[in-house]
Amino acid sequence: MPVAGLDLAEEITALKRERNAIILAHNYQIREIQELADFVGDSLGLSYKAAEANADVIAFCGVHFMAETAKIVNPGKTVVLPDANAGCSLSDSCPAEKLAAHLAKHADRNYYVVAYINCSAGVKALADVICTSGNAVKIVQRVPADRNILFVPDANLGQWVMDQTGRPMDLWAGNCYVHVEFTRNSIERIKREHPGAPVVAHPECTTAVRLLADEVCSTEKMVSFCKSSPARAFIIVTESGMLHRLRREVPGREFIPGPTDKCACADCRYMKMNTLEKLHACLRDLAPEIIIPEATRARAEESVRRMLEWSR
Ligand code: 13P
Ligand code: SF4
Repeated sequence: MPVAGLDLAEEITALKRERNAIILAHNYQIREIQELADFVGDSLGLSYKAAEANADVIAFCGVHFMAETAKIVNPGKTVVLPDANAGCSLSDSCPAEKLAAHLAKHADRNYYVVAYINCSAGVKALADVICTSGNAVKIVQRVPADRNILFVPDANLGQWVMDQTGRPMDLWAGNCYVHVEFTRNSIERIKREHPGAPVVAHPECTTAVRLLADEVCSTEKMVSFCKSSPARAFIIVTESGMLHRLRREVPGREFIPGPTDKCACADCRYMKMNTLEKLHACLRDLAPEIIIPEATRARAEESVRRMLEWSR
């Protein structure tokens, strides 16, 4: 229960101080959480912030795999997530046991496994290196040229990286249920309604949608792209929370959400599970806490650290 005279946001700030906690938030979080966070960013920026965190507690406002990544690089810290059910359809599309069985079945390929960060600690433990949408091209370019690459779990991002690098890769057939909702039809329609507005799309979108985009990039790069562009209006083809960050940091421009065939914008139901009330409760109770078996964590840390090193 919040203390009388203090609103919820003030209560959270007071609890944060008491716990010596840091609040990290992904760009898709609700506006109120973004406004309270110590850092708001994409998966790459959040991984660096987590690795550098000088706090006893990390309250991670994002989805489960993001909080897990923070724990992987901070075994001695308490990492909490406001809602333990905040998962990710993309991460779910590649269970660690299924990946292990696939690697055993195709042992002759001697795969170098590049895992997009949207996966469980178990999958990270099986991977050779992790990547995010912000560094995937750079990471794949560093993989030894004589190795066959298996890219998991996002086939759309994987296809985009292949197009950018010219490097062949075998792709796991996973996708993000939010980004595949944008269609060629829905994006062509919004382009007609806003002629001249650049289309900025996330690489988790399908190829048909990416081909309509003026810029394909991570959520963090969307901010720098819009800041440096002379355009007055932009069509943003990703999860709707991104628009809060853009409107806050790039004032005076118009941000139009990319529509789907059914809705005017796309929400990730997992990202939206976190609320100020749940953030308050997780700082108060230090739960739900992220716990990872040590052997898995240590193996996963190697592939996460390799990514952090390669993308400097
Ligand atoms: P970014 O790393 O670009 O923020 O993407 C994370 C994500 O989950 C996209 O759906
Ligand atoms: Fe996962 Fe898609 Fe939600 Fe990102 S938007 S967290 S990839 S389900």
